[in-house]
Amino acid sequence: MQVTMTVNDTEVTREIEGRLLLVHFLRDVLSLTGTHWGCDTSNCGTCVVWMDGEPVKSCTVLAAMADGHEVRTVEGLAQNGELDPIQQGFMQCHGLQCGFCTPGMMMTCRALLDKNPDPTDAEIREAISGQICRCTGYSTIVRSVRWAAVHEAAAAQQEVTA
Ligand code: FES
Ligand code: FES
Repeated sequence: MQVTMTVNDTEVTREIEGRLLLVHFLRDVLSLTGTHWGCDTSNCGTCVVWMDGEPVKSCTVLAAMADGHEVRTVEGLAQNGELDPIQQGFMQCHGLQCGFCTPGMMMTCRALLDKNPDPTDAEIREAISGQICRCTGYSTIVRSVRWAAVHEAAAAQQEVTA
């Protein structure tokens, strides 16, 4: 079957098998290997991407289901050569160690800040509760999201007063 979708602002059309999962479509067909595949049980969340702006576990979505939709992966987070504040936050606050969970974490946390620009620690922890990090103990991830929230708020304030 043929599918057409927009991935990171670029329209792509490919012939695929109907059973192909979105995570494999992104990684193996489009070579967007920033999206990771970490389990067979829909538990780890390392495969999170956005479909029409909403975080989804791409191992639970058929590529065929993304036909006609807009998909964004971690490769599409940076804009105009600038890292997204959430990426900067993970860098500044050591929100990663091995980095395996990081792409999915960042996609979920970016979506959280888009809806709730000033989340509490509890809200951040709830947002990432469907995702597993084996390394960090989560505290630095929460700190990274807080860093991004604070710096985004400061940047927005600067724009208002400029
Ligand atoms: S690969 Fe583990 S939840 Fe998708
Ligand atoms: S940084 Fe290693 S799994 Fe999260």
